[in-house]
Amino acid sequence: MGSDFWDAAYGTPKPGQLHPFRAVRGAKHSAPATPGDLLFHLRARRQDLCFELAHRIADAFAGLAAVEDEVHGFRYFDERDLLGFVDGTENPAGAVAEAAALTGANDPFPGSSYVVVQRYTHDLSAWRGLSVEAQEAAVGRTKLEDLELPDEAKAPDAHIVLNVVEDADGRERKILRDNMPFGSLKDGTFGTYFIGYAADVSTTELMLERMFTGADGAAHDRLLDFSTAHTGGLFFVPSQTFLDDPAAGLQAAAAEVQATDPA
Ligand code: HEM
Repeated sequence: MGSDFWDAAYGTPKPGQLHPFRAVRGAKHSAPATPGDLLFHLRARRQDLCFELAHRIADAFAGLAAVEDEVHGFRYFDERDLLGFVDGTENPAGAVAEAAALTGANDPFPGSSYVVVQRYTHDLSAWRGLSVEAQEAAVGRTKLEDLELPDEAKAPDAHIVLNVVEDADGRERKILRDNMPFGSLKDGTFGTYFIGYAADVSTTELMLERMFTGADGAAHDRLLDFSTAHTGGLFFVPSQTFLDDPAAGLQAAAAEVQATDPA
């Protein structure tokens, strides 16, 4: 659910980190904000099931909502993106993934998440003009074996250098990514649909800031010289419990807010 949708549908209390996606403007590359009310992320091993469910959802919303963007992703070899690199290797798993992606029991909206999505397209001919070594320097990992480059060999503007962020205690701040490749030969479109879930969306926002405006001696993420962001949205992902009974969820959230901040 997007921020404006939440305001119109539920008002207060509102999930603490739900706000419109903040565009990021770098000196050379930008991440635009393209608002939306509802995002449906459908996943299955069979595409027909995703298509059928999407169709039923669209039917259910007929006359109430229009489809603004629609991307059909696919699995590409061993979970590679169209740049040819394995995408998702350093994703957290198990309990670490849960902690990274889901709000805790004391949150007014427990068991929820915040998802950031961006539709990127790649300039594949420019990318293919790079040597494999230069592509590996842009990502920070080897292409075929998907191994992290040694720290001393990593370029400051490598994708993974800018996206490893730490908290004040030196612990890595994680998000859970579920990027999907998509494309069209007729249109010459080769893309990555970035999908990042976080319990604390400021982690994702910090990564975006570093990618587009640079940090630690890097002007921007080298991948952005070959990848353009066309959309950007931030959505609150309610828990199943909330979706089953939003009125009860709102009541519980109000009580939790009251208990933690009686003022
Ligand atoms: C054009 C879009 C993107 C592409 C093609 C891409 C691709 C990749 C690849 C190939 C890796 C290395 C393998 C892995 O650990 O998954 C990676 C890592 C990562 N990416 Fe991206 N990515 C994109 C956008 C983003 C964005 C927008 C963010 C954050 C806002 C992000 C955050 C991360 C993080 C956190 C890692 C793991 C870093 C580590 O722990 O080593 N990526 N990405």
